[in-house]
Amino acid sequence: MLPPETELWNRVEQTAREVFGTYGFGEIRPPIFEPTELFARSIGLDTDVVSKEMYTFADQLRELDWPEWTYPDFKRWIDLAESSIRDGRIPRFRNSDIIDQIRAAVVSIEKDLGGRPDKEDLIDLRELMDQMVLGESLTLRPEATASVCRAYIEHNMQQLPAPVKLYYTGPMFRRERPQKGRYRQFYQIGAEVLGGSDAPGIDAEVIEMVMVYFAKLELPGVQLEINSIGCRECRPKYVELLRAGLQKVKDKLGADSQRRIETNPLRVLDSKLEHEQAIIEKLPRIGEHLCADCAEHYAEVKRQLDLRQVKFEENWRLVRGLDYYMRTTFEITARGLGSQNAVCGGGRYDGLIELLGGPPTKGIGFAIGEDRVILSLLEAGKGNAAEGRDVYIAWMGEKAQATAIAAARTLREAGFRVELPPVEQKFGKALGQADKLGARYALILGEDEVASGEWTLKTLADGSQKKIAKAELVKFLREAKRDSSLRSE
Ligand code: HAM
Repeated sequence: MLPPETELWNRVEQTAREVFGTYGFGEIRPPIFEPTELFARSIGLDTDVVSKEMYTFADQLRELDWPEWTYPDFKRWIDLAESSIRDGRIPRFRNSDIIDQIRAAVVSIEKDLGGRPDKEDLIDLRELMDQMVLGESLTLRPEATASVCRAYIEHNMQQLPAPVKLYYTGPMFRRERPQKGRYRQFYQIGAEVLGGSDAPGIDAEVIEMVMVYFAKLELPGVQLEINSIGCRECRPKYVELLRAGLQKVKDKLGADSQRRIETNPLRVLDSKLEHEQAIIEKLPRIGEHLCADCAEHYAEVKRQLDLRQVKFEENWRLVRGLDYYMRTTFEITARGLGSQNAVCGGGRYDGLIELLGGPPTKGIGFAIGEDRVILSLLEAGKGNAAEGRDVYIAWMGEKAQATAIAAARTLREAGFRVELPPVEQKFGKALGQADKLGARYALILGEDEVASGEWTLKTLADGSQKKIAKAELVKFLREAKRDSSLRSE
């Protein structure tokens, strides 16, 4: 990211700070990496994010004294690995799967080969062991909701006046195939509301806030979709219905969806495969199977959105790819992005804090894909935040240099963007430079100007020139700036 585009990034972030501030949100800055287990537990093992997209590495700080692994001695090795998992010295995540595989291999060696493995078997075993994570397992954050919840618990935020409203901005990491709008390091602007209440008014206000923010940015073609995916009571029953429905049409589905019938049937609803669309349309819909409480909550969220004049579409297939959601889910799309057009995703996640060892807490939040917001703004021609320079100071002569330095200081203190050439330039060259930098004005300081105190100000757009008293300059530029920003509005 380079200037002038970084200027747009700053504007997008600054606007978020301003808008979120007006809704009472304060900034949290969670760390870039966390124990792997935090993400595995909160986002869920069967999700794409956890199962294949996390940048995970073993921190070697807590190295153990591992015995050699000669057969059959390495059974000791497995015992040590297992006790280390129990003590928390090495992570359960990934390791317990590998140990299961090693044990299965050993059983088959004992049974089929009479305890005499051949070379191939030993190589296979060795490879499995090499995959073990023998240190603390850390992960570059793929999202920040889990970290915010961890911080909430660690800092006893349940004692603060509820609800606690936090926002964050920063890089996230997911191992995905890079393409337009999808990166391995990307940036999110997110917010979370945590506390004792799950009042639908909270859901609606959070959604209103994002929509107000996008309106302020003039993000083009913004569309909001909402859904309710039920709770621990009604969702499992619906999932079973869905699974049964999917079983009936299994043969017509692609391999991914077939696999998901077992692992995570809700994710089938996310399918973009052309030939699956008609089939999915006929499946049972969650909206018809919500329990009374969830149905009431959802109806009230919609009423509260109406009260706030927030326009939305309902999409019963909006299930979101992370396991912690319940009840309200939502997604916002914008124009100019092709297939990666979701600029914001979020939802309610009551129960997540408890899952992570905290007190009973309700939660809802969202994250905006900042990269995509920027792309969409640029595409719509709303990206020209870069203003070049306000004033280029063209000076000649030693006396003029002193005046130029003082003038630059005064103008900068008044907030103008000033370019002061460090060495003397002929006026013609200086004006050429000013043009190239996109300056609005050139302040011309030669011997005459210094002597008379009447400076020359050239408007570069039309080449007009006027004399201006030193004391008048800041006032004049301020007024000119105000006029031009009024005009562009
Ligand atoms: P998410 O839907 O995984 O939700 O991500 C939110 C947004 O981040 C997406 O809509 C998209 O704009 C952007 N995004 C995701 N992956 C990438 C990528 N590889 N490249 C560029 N942009 C990307 C969450 O992360 C949840 N933590 C949101 C949340 C907060 N739910 C409750 N609180």
